[in-house]
Amino acid sequence: MLVYDSKQLFMKYLKGRRRLVKDLTVFYSRAARNMKRSEIRELLKVARKPDIISFAGGLPDPKTFPIKDLEEISCELLREKGALALQYGPTEGEPPLREEIAKWMSYEKASIKPENILITAGSQQGLDIISKVFLDPNDIVVMELPSYIGGLQAFNAYRAKMIGVPQDAQGMRMDNLSKLLAKLAKKNRKPKFIYVVPDFQNPSGITMTLQRRKTLLEIAYQYDIPIIEDSPYRELRYRGKSVPAIYNLDTQDQIIALGTFSKLLCPGLRIGWIMAPIEWMDRMIVAKQSMDLCSPSYTQLMVAEYLKRGLLPKQIRKLRDLYNGKLEVMLKTLKHHMPEGVRWSKPDGGLFLWLELPKNLSANDLFPKAIENKVAYVVGSAFHCDGKGQNTARINFSYSTEQQISEGIQRLAEMLKESM
Ligand SMILES: Cc1ncc(COP(=O)(O)O)c(C=O)c1O
Repeated sequence: MLVYDSKQLFMKYLKGRRRLVKDLTVFYSRAARNMKRSEIRELLKVARKPDIISFAGGLPDPKTFPIKDLEEISCELLREKGALALQYGPTEGEPPLREEIAKWMSYEKASIKPENILITAGSQQGLDIISKVFLDPNDIVVMELPSYIGGLQAFNAYRAKMIGVPQDAQGMRMDNLSKLLAKLAKKNRKPKFIYVVPDFQNPSGITMTLQRRKTLLEIAYQYDIPIIEDSPYRELRYRGKSVPAIYNLDTQDQIIALGTFSKLLCPGLRIGWIMAPIEWMDRMIVAKQSMDLCSPSYTQLMVAEYLKRGLLPKQIRKLRDLYNGKLEVMLKTLKHHMPEGVRWSKPDGGLFLWLELPKNLSANDLFPKAIENKVAYVVGSAFHCDGKGQNTARINFSYSTEQQISEGIQRLAEMLKESM
């Protein structure tokens, strides 16, 4: 695959022009210079070719989109409340949606009020708002190793210094976290927040155990550090018992939780939310004002009505059935075909598996070969804030059909056998 960086593109552009032009990138701010293109978004361009079986994106299966229900709601909404749905709305979000989400978030234990909810354009905008409000250049953000690439991108854009803490099958290693924070404290440094994706993590599929969640809170209280809990996959559990959300265990109002309907309904609606203590809300609303004034009233009111009609539980059951089947096919095919020395996670939910190749193999080097073999994954190093993890890869099981999953994993296995 040929990928140009901005300098190369500029040189190419220069060659194609006769007259002398200025390097326009000199006008960029430091922040813009610091921004990194998402490797996943680049890989997705290649992986979108129709003959490639793509395990690269984190796309939901479009068969699950509740098109019929949304069509009905949309028509009714335009007919009866068109003037409201197509008008600007409040920055913090449409009141009926904030109310429905507050109810939805209160189902375990916590009592969440609509005032604690800020509607965002997907939880990705939530990550950007949080970064804008909390991060100064060189501030430290602690995160899992590996972690969600969109988080890395947002924190990087605000020039944070990211420090990764390794995970095992139970989630972030608390012994490592304690040691890190103690070491930083000796240097008079304190992270701005700890970012975690505790449920069926993107990318690893790991779920943080209850004990680890409790210890994480204890450590966060001890050092007085907020936690950002980003959990788009929480409802997508296919087996085992649910673990309480960290915000439900919190007793000191130190958590910001991010949520989204991207994986439950459809990403095209771009409806996510930030749930935070009231004291932090005002700054976040102001930060959002300069980004977009408000999220689209139309899709907000559609989702509010969808929730009000009580359609979400049935939709979640449908997702669980479909994705559980796909996960089983993937696990079975991996077991039958992967060569010795390749390991993978066995998640209880979510959309991703994590592949670990023998140390001497690089998923990055093998990527062009995988594309030749018409199968795609995302290289694991893209999710490592320390640039490591060359022998790892993320594979998605929600988008491809069961038949494609079986065929694609066999292609990967064949390629790995040849490379070993
Ligand atoms: C952990 C995590 N956070 C945030 C997002 C962003 O989701 P969206 O902006 O579509 O709500 C994703 C998407 O894959 C994710 O996996």
